[in-house]
Amino acid sequence: MRAGVLISGRGSNLQALLDACADPAFPARIACVISNRPDAAGLERAGRAGVPAIAIDHRGRSRAEFEREVGTVLARHGVDFVCLAGFMRILTADFVLRWQGRIINIHPSLLPAFKGADAHGQAIAAGVRLSGCTVHYVVPEMDAGPIIAQAAVPVEAGDDAASLAERVLGAEHRLYPMVLRWIAEGRIALRDGRVEISGARTAGGMLVNPIEPT
Ligand code: GRF
Repeated sequence: MRAGVLISGRGSNLQALLDACADPAFPARIACVISNRPDAAGLERAGRAGVPAIAIDHRGRSRAEFEREVGTVLARHGVDFVCLAGFMRILTADFVLRWQGRIINIHPSLLPAFKGADAHGQAIAAGVRLSGCTVHYVVPEMDAGPIIAQAAVPVEAGDDAASLAERVLGAEHRLYPMVLRWIAEGRIALRDGRVEISGARTAGGMLVNPIEPT
């Protein structure tokens, strides 16, 4: 599988995917990385990994032009699957439907809670005891596609959005490559808008937060 990764910034999730794909036994390759921001640090990460890194500045282009160029670059690199990793532009329904079932995203909350921007600020404001991250298929509606996998992370006393973000990010870096591997292994199927995963177990037990001190 040849994945194209779309980013807008830091690219730490991209790094997790690059690191996973550096293992010859991993069943996917990153064919190219595209950023809508020319100054995205993630472009350098791609460069360091020897992966083509392309900036397509969304400024000064219509949305249609921008997406056409993204599509052209993905095609040029033989991409057959798209991973959004901190990509901060909304994609048109046209683009999303063209990649339907072949485009995923990672969002830093347990969807369907806390969609959109500032998921961690929303989680702190709501006072939830568990937050986390979700890898899901992309559909035209933002942060709404079929959920593939989630990781739950405790919210700690005194957390703010930044400290929670850092803890959740650690989970993101484990979850995203794992899901990409499952997809590349052909183990994920979409049936009636829900995801089925073959050969995966349900995590046993439960995660309770907070707990009594020991
Ligand atoms: C991550 O928290 C991701 O879930 C969200 O944007 C952030 C991107 O971080 N969509 P990075 O660029 O991967 O470091």
